[in-house]
This record gives sequence, structure tokens and C-alpha cells, in this order.
Amino acid sequence: MCGIVAYLGDKKAKPILVEGLKRLEYRGYDSAGLAVIDHGRLQLVRSAGRISDLESCLAEQELEGSLGIAHTRWATHGAATTENAHPHLDHTGKIAIVHNGIIENFATLKKWLISKGCTFRSETDSEVIANLISLFYYDESQSDQAGPDRGLEIRLETAVRLALRELDGTYGIAVVSSEVPDVLIAARRGSPMVVGLGDGEFIVASDAAAIVKHTTQAIYLGDNEMVVVTRDGYRTITIENDPVAAKIEQIEYSLDRLELDGYAHYMAKEIFEQPQTLADCLKGRLDQTSGQVVLGGIASLSRELVRAHRIGIAACGTAWHAGLVGEYLFEQLAQLPAEVDYASEFRYRNPIIEQDTVFIVISQSGETLDTLAALQEAKERGALVLGIVNSVGSTIARQTDAGIYLHVGPEIGVASTKAFTGQLAVLTMLALYIARRRRMSQQMLEHYIRALRRIPEQISTVLEQSEYIHQVAQEYHQRENWLFLGRGYQFPVALEGALKLKEISYIHAEGLPAAEMKHGPIALITPEMPVVFVAPKSSQYDKVMGNVEEVKARGGIIIAVATEGDETIRDYADHVFTVPDTLEELQPMLTVIPLQLLAYHAALIRGHDVDKPRNLAKSVTVE
Ligand code: AGP
Repeated sequence: MCGIVAYLGDKKAKPILVEGLKRLEYRGYDSAGLAVIDHGRLQLVRSAGRISDLESCLAEQELEGSLGIAHTRWATHGAATTENAHPHLDHTGKIAIVHNGIIENFATLKKWLISKGCTFRSETDSEVIANLISLFYYDESQSDQAGPDRGLEIRLETAVRLALRELDGTYGIAVVSSEVPDVLIAARRGSPMVVGLGDGEFIVASDAAAIVKHTTQAIYLGDNEMVVVTRDGYRTITIENDPVAAKIEQIEYSLDRLELDGYAHYMAKEIFEQPQTLADCLKGRLDQTSGQVVLGGIASLSRELVRAHRIGIAACGTAWHAGLVGEYLFEQLAQLPAEVDYASEFRYRNPIIEQDTVFIVISQSGETLDTLAALQEAKERGALVLGIVNSVGSTIARQTDAGIYLHVGPEIGVASTKAFTGQLAVLTMLALYIARRRRMSQQMLEHYIRALRRIPEQISTVLEQSEYIHQVAQEYHQRENWLFLGRGYQFPVALEGALKLKEISYIHAEGLPAAEMKHGPIALITPEMPVVFVAPKSSQYDKVMGNVEEVKARGGIIIAVATEGDETIRDYADHVFTVPDTLEELQPMLTVIPLQLLAYHAALIRGHDVDKPRNLAKSVTVE
């Protein structure tokens, strides 16, 4: 996901913009740039590569200006080159914009702008926005509606509004002009923009992480809204020029949780802090006194949840794997029909949403465009939509009817780890919450709550095997094809283990239901192929052991995740990672841990950047 930072205040913009971009690095990018209005001139500095490369380019530039915009780009239209890096200028070189999102009608607009005499330097869709604003700004028919003193401010504001109304697609943008050196304009549709209200200064960004060092007072722009910031204050309006009553909110984001705390990587920190983050996720939600699950975020919808005839779930990637565990949980604990969809498939499938359907969207970032679109599709079809989200105040969190935050803290590593176990914990609590209001006895509920409370300490036990897992990764990190197999609740865990290995070690890995082996994939088994069986003691253990024997008979390498004390599997497996015993429905929160560590160690041994893997972004806000 691209990152935007913009500043208007009484300090030099350059260092604030660069520091803000560094706060957004974790989201993944391939080029960066900034533009500062300096002594009435627009100074543009951009670089392919890392922010450190941009800093090298900036070293010789003494930029004094206190108004500027900056951007980290994750390439969608056009390669990761300096020319395609943001900010983009209009053809006069006086207006600069940075843009997150995708302009779907950019080709048509570009052709029309060229016919109007505009020139283009990049392959991007974003550059169209700069020239469109320019065309409206320099359109002589635009009267100076507010007279000479504010004429240019209103002129720029009007030009931005008119340009945005021409766009199809999504945008989060910030705009400055050397002709209007005391005005910063930002706007959004489908891509987040947060306006930080400092003391005599404003920091506008696509993520609160870039703001919170300066201020925790902020306005979250809504879709089709824009903010006009001047040195005297700010105004929020719609792109139709209707006033918007801005709501000032407190940013819930602590910078200290953004620090590495001595770990080599954010991914390592986030794997090893899971005992704490899971405890944080459960905190206050398993009431000792009443013996109930307490979920404040959905309490007002208790009746609708109990009356629900069906649960729909939509998510992407790791969140989708959590949703698949959720499907099993709702059906087995709450006897509720449930179905999980890839958000990208759901939104185009013409889905049937019956009455009394509760729809759940799961998203760590709360900004994944496909998941946001699935949310909107479900709402339009009449479903009650709940969100299971980590990022407080994110777009998805704001658009659902209600929701449950993970409370696991900011997840910086691109590969999702602590958010996954948090999602599983929330789904389990939600299924128990509904089950108790349907047929589950209080005694059974307390049985699950007791087991759930033990999970954080049990995760600690699993983490103690990290060094052994490192040794196994060392032995097999050069194998280029892996299989991950599991049954029941462990099938989604097998999928998640395969995804972790793929996305940070770049090894090809496939997750499958263990029983599917005999329907084809068993042809792949050779003495070269590591096969990971997620096989804790469960109702399907004997069946899984049958699959283990099939692989063993064909000389496959067997790495097993098994329950402590299971001696049987040791007769077949080359390596065994153990997890403490717990209820079958809760096992995924434990069995995923060794697979997170396996992927982390393999990626490091293979020399990859585990926090910022190639081609990946932390939040995918494009289709
Ligand atoms: C998981 O490790 C990946 N980074 C990716 O699959 C991610 O889970 C997916 O893009 C969904 O992101 P979200 O939870 O922020 O919506």
C-alpha cells in the first residue's frame, strides 16, 4: 500500500516528511519522493528504491520550506522508476500531487488532457490528477470567487474539487501549488486520509503512524470529502462543495509499540509477543464473575446475532484462513450455517444474501480494498455487517454496522502473525457468545473459557522450540517445493503455514486437506519434498496418520506439528514440533506458531527481508 505524508506549519517540512515516510515503510513500497514549496518555488526530489536512497538525493538539497507533500509508492501502473515515483507535477510544474489508489478512467482522461495540450512524463494513472487540477485551475472562466486575498486559495480548492469529480476509482491525495504557498489540500475516496491537528501545524497522512509523534488529535476524512488547510486553520467540505462538520478524534496509536524492542525484525517481535497480544485480545472479554463472553462492540446486536440464520464471512489472505476456522467454529459451536468467501470472489459472484444473514469481514489493516468492497456489497444486499479489525478507526472499521477490535497492537511485519491468532481468538469468542445464546450450556461455555484463558501461556511453550525449528529450516531451506497438510481445523492452518513460507522465503508451498493427497497431489511426493503435517490429537487424528503413512511409504520428508506426548507420530516423522494439548477448536492458535517460526527462519537463512518481502504490501488497497 502506498503511503502519503503532508505538512503545513511553522517548521521545515523536509525532515518531518522523511520521518513520516519512515513510519510508513512497513507497508511495502518500491520508490519514494517529496515536494516542498521553498521560497515560492516547488522543489521536487524523488528516487526509486528505499527511503534511504531518497535521503541521499536530499542530502544536497537545503529545503527551507514549511509546506510539502511526500509519498512511498507501491507500483500499480508503471514500473518502480524515479519518473513514476510521486509526487507528480502538472505540465506547468507548479502543482504537485501525491496519490494512493487507482484511477480507473485514467486512460480516457489522459487522452483528453493531451488533446488539451497537457504533457505527461510518467506511465502512472496518478499524473492525470495533477494535469486535471491544472486544467481547471488555469481555466480563465473560473472567477475569483472570494476576491484577491483568498482568490487563489478558492481557485485551487475549486480546481481540486472539479478534478476529483471527474475521477472513477479510488484516491487518497494531497495537493500543493507554488502559486498558493500557504495552502495544503487533501481528499479521499476509498483510500484513507487522516488530518493531524497540531499546535500551529497540520500533518496529513494515509496512516496515523506518521502523525502520532506530532499530535493525537485528528480528523478522519470520509469518502468524497476534502480538507483545505491554511496557516490560519482548516475547512472540511465535500467534493460537491457542501460543508462537512469535522469530528475531532483521539488517535489510539502508541509509538512505543512501533519500536523493535531489541528484536531483529518486526516479524520476530510480533511472533514472540503473541502470548501478550493474545492476552490483550482476551482481556476484559472473558468475565470471571458472570462466566460470560463479553463483546462490547456487538452487544447492541445481540438479538440479531441470536436470530441469524446464516453467517457469511469475507476476507483476503491470512484473514481468509482465519475466516475458514471461523466457518468451522460457527457451525460446530453455535450450530449456525456459515460460509467463507475470498472477498475478491464474493464481490463479483452476485451473491445471494438471505434475510437474517450476519456478514463478517475480517481485516488486520481495515483498508484492504477487496474486503471493503465485499462489505459494501453485503450491506447493499441487506446483511448486517460486523468487522473483525485490528487497525482502530480504519475504513472497514468505520463502515461496518458494528465490530470487534483485535487489540493486538500495530502489526508492522508484512507477513501477518499476531493478527492471525488475534482473529482466531475473536472468532472463537464470537462463536461462543452466540452459542451460549442459542443451545450451549453455561457449563460447556465455562469449559471453553477455561481452555481459552490458558492459550497465551501455551503459546509461550511452543515459542521455546524456536531454535529447534531454526535447525529444521537450516536443513531444508533449499527445497523449492513444500506441502502443508491438515484436516478439520488444521486444514486452514496448513493453508496459513504454506502462505507464510511462500510470502517471505519465496519457496513454493501448497496447503491442502490431508485427505486430498490421494486425489492427485500424492504424485508429487519424492524424497526431496518436505511435507508438513499439522496433526495434533483430534477427532481426525487416525485419518491424518493414514495420510502420514502414505507419504512415508513414498519416501517423503515428514515434518509434523503434534500434541506433546504423542509418541506414535515420532515413528513416522523426521521432525516433530509439539504443542500443548487443548480443545480441538482452540488448537489453531497453537499449531500455527511453529509454522510462523519455520517461515521466519527459512526466509532469514535464504537472506530475504522478512519485514518487507518483495512485491508485497502490508495493506492491499488496490484491486
Ligand atoms: C498475510 O501474511 C499477508 N500479508 C496478506 O495475505 C494479508 O493477510 C491480506 O492482504 C489481508 O490483509 P488485511 O488482513 O489487512 O485485510
